[in-house]
Amino acid sequence: MSKVTVVGAGNVGATAANVIAIREVADEVVMIDIKEGVSEGKAMDMMQTANLLDMNTRISGVTNDYKATEGSDVVVITSGIPRKPGMTREELIGVNAGIVKQVTESVLAHSPNAIIICVSNPMDTMTYLIHKISGLPKNRIIGMGGALDSSRFKYYLSKALNANPNEIEGFVIGGHGDTTMIPMKRFAAYRGVPAASLMSAETLDKVAADTMVGGATLTKLLGTSAWYAPGAATAEVVEAILHDQKCMIPCSALLDGEYGEKDLCIGVPCLLGKNGIEKIIELDLNDEEKALFAKSAEAVRKTNAALPL
Ligand code: LAC
Repeated sequence: MSKVTVVGAGNVGATAANVIAIREVADEVVMIDIKEGVSEGKAMDMMQTANLLDMNTRISGVTNDYKATEGSDVVVITSGIPRKPGMTREELIGVNAGIVKQVTESVLAHSPNAIIICVSNPMDTMTYLIHKISGLPKNRIIGMGGALDSSRFKYYLSKALNANPNEIEGFVIGGHGDTTMIPMKRFAAYRGVPAASLMSAETLDKVAADTMVGGATLTKLLGTSAWYAPGAATAEVVEAILHDQKCMIPCSALLDGEYGEKDLCIGVPCLLGKNGIEKIIELDLNDEEKALFAKSAEAVRKTNAALPL
């Protein structure tokens, strides 16, 4: 029996729960929210698709009742306010830090062995906050940002190549911020063929730039933060853990000397399996990439400094 709790049944949380259920990643999914009826209603709506989709995962929803989350293997934290058009993720820190702190404490009181996936923004800083307040081993706290940013990178690469997104390789490291993420152009590929050999440097630069503001572009169109890809990317991370897939997915991880950084959560390629982050993969970055990573780390550290720790 595997159980996943999703805290926050807003657009991202509910989409994550729905994808986890449709793909039958877990046996049971519990959604919990502070808004009366929302989790219950969304869970009921999803369960009414079970017979249509031949879905065997059980989904339930509760309001504020953490007892229902007891014994979860994985807990996804999406709580907090999303950004509005024109806002950066970093501007959310004041409100979201308090919410994430309270949620982390409540979740761990009922699922002390859970692996925690942080989705709340500013994501790298919220992941760091969870580390600081929980004291959990670093393999059990994972920030979901790189999985989403990498999927957006592959989307923009596929558009530039007029290709099937499933045939594209690409990943993004660094912070989950409009100016801090680092699409790894050097490793982007189409069926193993370097993307750089298939498009001009200008086009590849434009793909990377579009990726970096991918979330802001959607926020402007939608009037609020996106949810389909954030939810599906979260489900991908949960699946890698619960199914012990040993997948390499970029995630925000607590660094302890890797990439020359310490006491910082930031996006790096991680090997994910049943123990959470089982390994941080250290890439041999070139000078340009090293400089970008150092700059990104500095920006995330600056945001962390605003935490009420
Ligand atoms: C985004 C939010 C979820 O990038 O950070 O869409």
